Amino acid sequence: MTEKDFILKDFDLSGLTSGSFSWQSPSNIALVKYWGKSDPQIPKNPSISFTLNNCHTLTTLEFKKKDKVSDDFEFEVIFEGKKREDFKPKIEKFFKRIERYIPFIRNYSYVINTENSFPHSSGIASSASGMSALALCLINMEKEINPEITKEYFNRKASFLARLGSGSAARSIEGEIVVWGEHREIPESSDLYGIRFPFDVHPVFKNYQDTILLVDKGQKQVSSTLGHNLMIDHPFSKQRFDQARKNISALTNILQEGNLKNFVKLVESEALTLHAMMMTSDPDFILMKPNTLEIIQRIREYRSQTESDICFTLDAGANVHVLFPEREKENVNTFINSNLLAFCQKKQYICDQAGKGAKKAN
Ligand code: PMV
Repeated sequence: MTEKDFILKDFDLSGLTSGSFSWQSPSNIALVKYWGKSDPQIPKNPSISFTLNNCHTLTTLEFKKKDKVSDDFEFEVIFEGKKREDFKPKIEKFFKRIERYIPFIRNYSYVINTENSFPHSSGIASSASGMSALALCLINMEKEINPEITKEYFNRKASFLARLGSGSAARSIEGEIVVWGEHREIPESSDLYGIRFPFDVHPVFKNYQDTILLVDKGQKQVSSTLGHNLMIDHPFSKQRFDQARKNISALTNILQEGNLKNFVKLVESEALTLHAMMMTSDPDFILMKPNTLEIIQRIREYRSQTESDICFTLDAGANVHVLFPEREKENVNTFINSNLLAFCQKKQYICDQAGKGAKKAN
């Protein structure tokens, strides 16, 4: 599908005067990372993620047809019960970007009511779950206007719109494993939207566990936009984008074969490479904290002393995602409790696992 396939044409709004839609949309954790993009939110390399289950955003979009279509976007944002003016610029930018595809957007005024299942200041990015939840509410309006659209089109356009809000949000519509970005070995993969991993996944990856250790709950030190832009003149960017493409090929096989030793190696290397890119950009950023490294060290020690296939991955921050197969849940939880929680802020962590994707909530 091309960008033009997502433009809504010849629509009739007479049947849709007011109402509301609610969607619950998850966060996701990348295994092969997306870092570097070109306009408009086109990734420099494909990425693959686990969709999460428990970390999600619930958004209700109330809409009311305006008497007269005005030039501005009319909306209010209520986050966890409080009106938030500071959230508006990002959403306004999103509306501007998607207007070509959702041309009725200025015909309505909106109240966006949103809440996260995880603490806002946890260092867990809410842009993927937040932007995908809002995109789903909007495509739901489109479906009301144009009921003929298929489930596949609905999901692809939701992901396409979400991508224009935040790149990684493109991977938050479906589950449990999503690919975003064109790759020659993955049929139907696209830079425009995420798709479900199209091959049979080995059962060992079913309900794969992700325990998120909250090492540092502070504000993001580097915004995603700034970080992605630093890849433009980065001395290692070409090698990185090539490496990511190779890692997608390798991971595609690993996910089908269930080779956990290779999975661990690849996933940890991706996390460290993401941080290596930040540490070698200009300006540079060190986003790991001493406790991040302490946890990484302990995970590796545990792995070498046991038969465990535990591993870690990182986002653009200090928190550690501890990944492991469901069959190890009991042992790894004991290890985390006794050995890792001491390195988390206020011993805080979130237990999550791979999930099935977004759900309609009303
Ligand atoms: O979606 P963005 O633009 O905030 O980028 C997020 C990028 C990483 O989380 C660091 C990696 C990824 O692929 O999710």
